[in-house]
Amino acid sequence: MANTYIIKGKNPLQGEVQISGSKNAALGIIAAAMVVDGPSVIENLPKIKDIKILLEICQELGAKIEWLSENSIRFDPTTVNTYQAISKKVSKIRGSYYLLGAFLGKYHKVSLLMPGGCDFGARPIDLHIKGFQALGGDELKDEDGVISIKAGRLRGAGVFLDTVSVGATINIMLAAVKAEGITVINNAAKEPHIVDVANFLNTMGANIRGAGTDVIKITGKPYLAANRSYTIIPDQIEAGTYMIMAAMTNGDLTCKNLIPKHMEPLTAKLIEMGAIVEEGADSIRVMLMPGEKLKAASFKTMPYPGFPTDLQPQTTALLTVANGTGRMIESVWENRFQYIKELQAMGANIVTSGRLAVVQGAELQGTTVFARDLRAGAAMVTAGLGAEGETIVTNVYAIERGYEDFVEKLLAVGADIREE
Ligand code: UD1
Repeated sequence: MANTYIIKGKNPLQGEVQISGSKNAALGIIAAAMVVDGPSVIENLPKIKDIKILLEICQELGAKIEWLSENSIRFDPTTVNTYQAISKKVSKIRGSYYLLGAFLGKYHKVSLLMPGGCDFGARPIDLHIKGFQALGGDELKDEDGVISIKAGRLRGAGVFLDTVSVGATINIMLAAVKAEGITVINNAAKEPHIVDVANFLNTMGANIRGAGTDVIKITGKPYLAANRSYTIIPDQIEAGTYMIMAAMTNGDLTCKNLIPKHMEPLTAKLIEMGAIVEEGADSIRVMLMPGEKLKAASFKTMPYPGFPTDLQPQTTALLTVANGTGRMIESVWENRFQYIKELQAMGANIVTSGRLAVVQGAELQGTTVFARDLRAGAAMVTAGLGAEGETIVTNVYAIERGYEDFVEKLLAVGADIREE
């Protein structure tokens, strides 16, 4: 298995790249498939490490998974025979925390080894727990990193999230689809993958209204009929990464199979920076006029439809080569600038203060940099593509957790990248 990418910079990315299914939607939908009372077919599943691990966890718990094609599975949860997900594997990925809501909904009890994932500072789950408690969950224990929740009766309730949380919104939804009566989630997150998980559950017979707005109403059902197919939406963050890389390399790249509406927060900013962005029905072309140089801009990450925090590192990498001074404010995570020292090692002119990074455009020079997490790793590749000389990115496992066929896709559009 490769552990390093070696990139020669300054090759414009040109041509077409196909966007894969959404990682974060797929994580929620696989957990949702556990709640359903029969098999379902999930299509456009990205073949990436995080998904592979979650499917292995589900198999260990007894689910039957049959691959129908490269990117589709038949998922049968009827053979699951435990409510305890406590193997080491569970703690490897953040997405396994959706099993909390899924098992609480299905069995009214759950034990889960606390999940891991990228390190951006504190990643509490207090809002998830608050939601489960509102639905009747109790006997909350936390021993050796294992969380256990039990509900005698699972009853619909009103839940107010005082911070907008993607994970809490999905987790509460997963439990509430099987609760008695009506659950209303107020101040819910509105990310596209929340709508996708709700659409999957509705396709399987659930009654969820308002997903994509900040009030979601769920009428619980004791039984969710399944045996239907569902196609996962395209990955907003993968698409955004390639759009940023196109701008970084003065390229002319068309990202195919995406939902342009989901890309609006990025599209608007790339246009402000001087890129040409053409929207098709399900594609976006990004290019720069010959000789045009990108202009700096200011960003603040926000929950959807704001600028996504998961594009923050890649965008900061882009700002390092733009003309002028750009600002990046990270308002979602408390500590998501740890990768900046890697960009500085490449010659980037960045000063940070708390959640603010001020970036002065400069020329990047290739060197050896570390992919400290998934999106920070994508930012290193973005920087390498725009840098003079050779960039060596180490720990690329972190990147392959979330990007399907990353190197293959980049090679096909003209990048000079190889794995070692
Ligand atoms: C999801 C994404 C992640 C993305 C993030 C924000 C998945 C698997 N991961 O993570 O890639 O960066 O959304 O778009 O979909 N918070 C609390 N208490 C809680 C839960 C969250 O205070 O119980 C806070 C967090 O500390 C953070 C903010 O809420 O500051 C947003 O977190 P949240 O939306 O929950 O992120 P995740 O669902 O973990």
